[in-house]
Amino acid sequence: MKTIVVYYSNKGSNKYLAEKIAQSLTCDLEEIKPRLNVFLLFLMNIHLGIKPLKHNIKGYDRVILCGPIWMGKLIPPLRSFIQKYSSKINQLVFVTCCASTDDQKNEKFGHGLVFNEVETQAKGKCILCQAFPVGLVLPDDKKEDANLVMKTHLNNENFNGEIQDRFKIFIEKVTEMN
Ligand SMILES: Cc1cc2nc3c(=O)[nH]c(=O)nc-3n(C[C@H](O)[C@H](O)[C@H](O)COP(=O)(O)O)c2cc1C
Repeated sequence: MKTIVVYYSNKGSNKYLAEKIAQSLTCDLEEIKPRLNVFLLFLMNIHLGIKPLKHNIKGYDRVILCGPIWMGKLIPPLRSFIQKYSSKINQLVFVTCCASTDDQKNEKFGHGLVFNEVETQAKGKCILCQAFPVGLVLPDDKKEDANLVMKTHLNNENFNGEIQDRFKIFIEKVTEMN
């Protein structure tokens, strides 16, 4: 399975995750670059699309798309990527390092709603969606601390325990789907 990981990240957690996936699968990696990379405008849904990717997406059996969730929405750079390349994507896997937990998945700001949107936008090509809630790296008594969760970013020091176990299972799942 020729695979590419494509990602957008504002604070670095999804960049970290994307790099780790590409390293584990020994596959290509490319960052999505918005034409206008202004975070506040994205929140207002003002965006000008993304720059063309350097890699030829049609040449891959599988695209793993990785990026954050803001305000319970599929963020503009990720949506633009799916819309621009949907005819060239063979299989899509969507991965997010977000703040919402598994229990909050179907709430207003939960990742479940974004998974539904990805599946709709990808027109049947999305075979798997996986969340890595950033709170998984926090101790049990801090997992509910919303301020701390929002300030936490993935790095080599905290990527262990529960999140690492979830990551290993994800990599096995993706590899088995070959
Ligand atoms: C303005 C803003 C809104 C956010 N809204 C959500 C949300 O609705 N649901 C969620 O799960 N996480 C939400 N988050 C958390 C981000 O998804 C999380 O911090 C993510 O790891 C950031 O990824 P990055 O470091 O790659 O930019 C939000 C973060 C910001 C800054």
